[in-house]
Amino acid sequence: MIAYGSKRGGTAGLADMIGAELIAHGLRVDVRPAARILSVDGYKGVIVAGALYNSRWHRDARRFVNRFRSALQSIPVWLIASGPLDDSANQGTLPPVSQVAKAAAVVGARGSMTFGGRLARDAKGLVASAMAKTRAGDWRNPAQVKAFAAAVADELAQATR
Ligand SMILES: Cc1cc2nc3c(=O)[nH]c(=O)nc-3n(C[C@H](O)[C@H](O)[C@H](O)COP(=O)(O)O)c2cc1C
Repeated sequence: MIAYGSKRGGTAGLADMIGAELIAHGLRVDVRPAARILSVDGYKGVIVAGALYNSRWHRDARRFVNRFRSALQSIPVWLIASGPLDDSANQGTLPPVSQVAKAAAVVGARGSMTFGGRLARDAKGLVASAMAKTRAGDWRNPAQVKAFAAAVADELAQATR
């Protein structure tokens, strides 16, 4: 399962991109808004994706980890943040923000990763629209998504073998 917390759709789209890659690797995948998920029973692995706002991980992603903490402790979990409106996520591996690092420790995550973000030129909201004047764009990187999904598919295949 890929559970996401997204305010303006960029992280939802990233979750879809990852889901499509995992399906290409032969996995069955559900991509869902984290706030709407009632159970993780039956899933062999979970990816939690959350947008970053003011260095905070989207509330739905944080809540999801807290709600399913004990179930998540016993299956492979990856945490994802999205992300920087520049090339920094493509330059190397960015350290996770503290909320992601904390959540990763709580569930014993297999990995965490920061992907580039997306901000539309016509983004609504006082701060976001001002920000969009200079920083609008899409920094989600399909090659990075591909590599991440391949690594996840590999680890899941090993874990369920
Ligand atoms: C007001 C505002 C604050 C943001 N703060 C951060 C931040 O602290 N760190 C970061 O990497 N990206 C930050 N971003 C960029 C967003 O994380 C990026 O646009 C992301 O793709 C948003 O995801 P969403 O479309 O799923 O809501 C910020 C964007 C806005 C509009």
